[in-house]
Amino acid sequence: MIKAEHIDVSFRKENQETVFGKERQQVLFDVSFDVKEGECLGILGESGSGKSTLGRVLCGLLKPDKGSVELEGLPLIGRGRKRGKTVISVVFQDYTTSANPRFRVRDLIGESFLVREKRERIRLDRETELEKLLELVGLDMGYSERFPHELSGGQLQRVCIARAIAVNPRIILFDEAISSLDAHTQVQVMDLLKEIQEKRKLTYLFITHDLTSVTYLCSRVLFLYQGKVAEIRDVEDIAKVTHPYAKKLLESVMDFDRIPELEADKKDGWEQAV
Ligand SMILES: Nc1ncnc2c1ncn2[C@@H]1O[C@H](COP(=O)(O)OP(=O)(O)OP(=O)(O)O)[C@@H](O)[C@H]1O
Ligand SMILES: [Mg+2]
Repeated sequence: MIKAEHIDVSFRKENQETVFGKERQQVLFDVSFDVKEGECLGILGESGSGKSTLGRVLCGLLKPDKGSVELEGLPLIGRGRKRGKTVISVVFQDYTTSANPRFRVRDLIGESFLVREKRERIRLDRETELEKLLELVGLDMGYSERFPHELSGGQLQRVCIARAIAVNPRIILFDEAISSLDAHTQVQVMDLLKEIQEKRKLTYLFITHDLTSVTYLCSRVLFLYQGKVAEIRDVEDIAKVTHPYAKKLLESVMDFDRIPELEADKKDGWEQAV
């Protein structure tokens, strides 16, 4: 479905003596991987490891210095790309700024309908589509007249997911799309994403720095470390990771899981002391 090969990306270094300075900072190094149809691939890495940069390359927003991306056997950029075939849609972390505050929910989603109508050369029954989509993300038509500030974070993120789906994509890229939600809402949204993926036979790319959400949602995980692919594993085999960074990450989550026990021990001790 997606094939990324030998991707290098660098940016011009800032703080150079002249604006003509040629020094560059390399951010991605020879990144290669593929994603199967219907799969959810987690892209996991610490802050600054190049996840969003890779995401921008994958959806054609950034041209790599080297390497290529193919979607369903066709190059993402270039002449071979047939119009109106594979579509990749994106949901970002910062849903508050990615939704125009002056647009009502119906207009936010309506923009995507326009894109779809143009691309597929069809006319949609927008009202019915809107209702279907809102229902899919667990909202009803009552929300369609609301402005972004009249919604909770979780509701607005659901609207952003509906908007991403409204263009009828085959692939959705989530860049830290649930990171700013509270833990309970995160689980709700992840369940929703799973359900939508099955219903619509979508392929997901899920960028995050949170291992727990990857194991919940993804079938495979790519560990990105300092711009390089450190390891790719099936989630079922995640305990078998060998790269030091992946191991460290795994251990930190296991420590985290142990906390409730520690808390319980402490509490017992405290109760005994009283
Ligand atoms: N447009 C740009 N110009 C210059 N440098 C950039 C640009 N975009 C990203 N970078 C640099 O590339 C590196 C990787 O950034 P990127 O945003 O891909 O990291 P990330 O893994 O998404 O981090 P986070 O988890 O914090 O979102 C960083 O050092 C960043 O400063
Ligand atoms: Mg990022």
